[in-house]
Amino acid sequence: EQDPRISKISSAIRVIPNFPKPGIMFQDITTLLLDTKAFRDSIDLFVERYRGKDISVVAGIEARGFIFGPPIALAIGAKFVPVRKPNKLPGDVISEEYSLEYGTDKIEMHVGAVQAGERSLIIDDLIATGGTLCAAIRLLERVGVHVVECACVIELPELKGRERLGDKPLFVLVSST
Ligand code: PRP
Repeated sequence: EQDPRISKISSAIRVIPNFPKPGIMFQDITTLLLDTKAFRDSIDLFVERYRGKDISVVAGIEARGFIFGPPIALAIGAKFVPVRKPNKLPGDVISEEYSLEYGTDKIEMHVGAVQAGERSLIIDDLIATGGTLCAAIRLLERVGVHVVECACVIELPELKGRERLGDKPLFVLVSST
């Protein structure tokens, strides 16, 4: 049985064809943010799932993980850790590379933001190929953090990102075909 809040969240997400390039159906969560009830419901659904799970870190992926992560972190009593694109964080960083269709990209996290043994949730707006989340998992695990689960608002199941995560659990609110 699907939670009755999900369908409203799903319809609040706008799909823009051919952005940022031809053939891409861009999943635009800015319209979800305009719908105060649906936005709140999306945060509540994550909070209901992760409250009481002894999670001390919510790691949010730039850029839209920075929108959903902080309210979840505050509600479950965890700290928020930004995982950023290269050369954005001012302090010492550890970084993790991942492959794109052409070339590679990198994500970074501040040294000292998390401690070995902490339990983390990783949050982003969307999983496509899963490359970004995989890199974030590796980044946190390299410093001894246990990644309890990855969570996204939207999954594009055709791109099989879930398979790329292996046995790391993935929780999503909406699947988009
Ligand atoms: C999008 C999305 C995820 C990532 C998912 O970010 O917000 O972070 O791509 O793709 P993947 O599962 O194939 O790795 P984008 O590249 O648009 O960067 P931005 O958030 O900085 O705009």
